[in-house]
Amino acid sequence: MKICILGSREKKPQDLWLLEEAKKRFDKVTYAQIPDVRIQDGEPLLLKGTPLSSYDIVFPRIPRTYRNYGYVICKLLEGRTYMPITPESIIVTHDKFLTLLKLEKAGIPTPLSYLSSTVKGMKPILKNMKYPVVIKLLQGSLGKGVMFAESPSSALPILDTIEGMKQPIMLEEFVGTPGEDIRALVIGHEVAASMKRVAEKGERRANIGAGGTGRKIRLSQEMTKIAIRSAKALGLGIAGIDIIEGKKGPVVIEANVNVHFEGITHATETNVAALMMDYVRHEAEISKKDRLIAPIFKAVEEMAWGR
Ligand SMILES: Nc1ncnc2c1ncn2[C@@H]1O[C@H](COP(=O)(O)OP(=O)(O)O)[C@@H](O)[C@H]1O
Ligand SMILES: [Mg+2]
Repeated sequence: MKICILGSREKKPQDLWLLEEAKKRFDKVTYAQIPDVRIQDGEPLLLKGTPLSSYDIVFPRIPRTYRNYGYVICKLLEGRTYMPITPESIIVTHDKFLTLLKLEKAGIPTPLSYLSSTVKGMKPILKNMKYPVVIKLLQGSLGKGVMFAESPSSALPILDTIEGMKQPIMLEEFVGTPGEDIRALVIGHEVAASMKRVAEKGERRANIGAGGTGRKIRLSQEMTKIAIRSAKALGLGIAGIDIIEGKKGPVVIEANVNVHFEGITHATETNVAALMMDYVRHEAEISKKDRLIAPIFKAVEEMAWGR
C-alpha cells in the first residue's frame, strides 16, 4: 500500500513520527508539501507529476493557511483514494463558529456563542452576558486569538481591534473552571488518548502551546461518547476535541482537524502516531474493497432492472 502525507513546508517532530510509523507499515511513503501540489485537468499532481490519486491513502495535515487550497485538493480526491477526513471538515473546523454550529445541529453541548461583524451589533449582547466572557478570532489556534474580558468596558477595546482587523467577532460564554480543559484524541470509534490540561499560573488558556501542562486522564463514559460523536458530526476520522467540564456537564469548545499531538503523546505515553497509521491502513483496506465491489453491485442492480 502507498501513503502520501500532505502537510506544510515545515516538518515538526510529530510529522517525523508519522513518517517513521508509516514506513513500518506501507510499501511507499511520501511527504508532500501542500504548496507543491498543482492541479492539472482536475487532477492534483505532485512536483514530478505523480497523481495524488495513485496513492491508496492521502493523509491530509492541512493548517489554517492552506485551508482553501487543501479543501480543493481533497475535494478532487474524494471517493478516489482513502482519506481519514472529509474535505468539508477542513473548511468547517478551521472556523470556530461553523464548528459550533455543526456540533449544535448534532445535539452536542456547546457554549452559548454569538457572531457579529461589527461592534455595534455586539453591544446589546455584551450588556446581557455574564462575565468574564470569551472573545475569539474565528481562525485562531494554539490559544492565539482567544481573549477574555471582565466587563463590557474591557471587552469593547478588544472588539474594536477585531473590527479594525476586518475580522468577524465571536463572543462566547465562559464555561468551567478557569484554565482547565480536556483534550480527547479521537481515532475512529475510540478515544485513543486523553489528557487534562491546566494553564500556566495567571493564564486562562489551557493550551500546551500557551504554557499549559497535560496529565493523562480517563474520560467518563459521557465525555467519551461526546468526543466520538463530535468527531463523527464534523467528518473527522482523526480529531482533537477540546472539552470543558461545565456546571451542567461536558461542553465541546473546539475541534482540531490538523491535530497537534506532541503534547498528548508525552502526557499519556501513547504512541499516537502509530495508532493513527494502524487506523488509516485498516480503513483504507475496507474502502478499497468497497470501491472494488461498488461497480459489481451497480452492474447487478442494472441487470435486475433490465437496464
Ligand atoms: N468558552 C470558554 N470558556 C472557558 N475557557 C475557554 C473557552 N473557550 C476557550 N477557553 C480556553 O481557551 C483555550 C483555547 O481555546 P480554543 O477555543 O480551544 O482555541 P485554540 O484553537 O486556540 O486552542 C482553551 O483550551 C480553554 O482553556
Ligand atoms: Mg483548542
